[in-house]
Amino acid sequence: VATEEAATEEGGQLVMPTNAEFPPYEYREGDQIVGIDADIAAAIAEELGMELVIEDMQFDSIIAAVQSGKADIGVAGMTVTEDRLVTVNFSDPYTQAAQVIIVKTDSEIATPDALAGKTIGFQLGTTGDLYAEDIEDATIERYNKGFEAVQALTQGKVDAVIIDREPAKVFVEQNEGLKVVDEEFTVEDYAICIAKENTELLEKINTALATLQESGKLDEIKAKYINAE
Ligand code: ARG
Repeated sequence: VATEEAATEEGGQLVMPTNAEFPPYEYREGDQIVGIDADIAAAIAEELGMELVIEDMQFDSIIAAVQSGKADIGVAGMTVTEDRLVTVNFSDPYTQAAQVIIVKTDSEIATPDALAGKTIGFQLGTTGDLYAEDIEDATIERYNKGFEAVQALTQGKVDAVIIDREPAKVFVEQNEGLKVVDEEFTVEDYAICIAKENTELLEKINTALATLQESGKLDEIKAKYINAE
């Protein structure tokens, strides 16, 4: 690849940083990274006639990789926030998401208000983490991986974990004695982040997303990984 620009042209590579610790959006299956985001990015790459290259990294390194031009599209169940919009652009949202609370089955915590004064686990650098300071008198524990926060909950080191809804469901299924609190903590949008200068790619991604929405492909991908309740 001769120039940075050539990197996002037809026939070129579309480099996607993600953090594959986040089922069902991105996780490892053998040596493959699979999930909703991986499938959506593959469908977008196909629309653009490009080759998708997925790079696994820490969640809080993704924006820097995109911003510096080392990568093209951050797809990682990433919530659109005002703070992030200062450094990167976001595509149109491709899914509605939420932050939820996981507790032990016998916990008395049944609403977000009941978190006051408790010890709460978060995945470092995520939007859940962002809300930490809004919770009165809470003690905050940060973990590199969402599932490490969930382990801490199982071990009684924290009283609750705040994390995205679909990963929460997967973690609760995989660990005995946990449940998701019915009342959601917040509602959010996931979108793809792209470098501020790369407005051409932003437009292409939005067009591809619209096509995939219209054709039903987006819904098909989500349905493949998320069981309807
Ligand atoms: N939605 C949250 C955020 O944007 C968490 C995303 C974590 N994603 C991941 N692949 N680990 O901060």
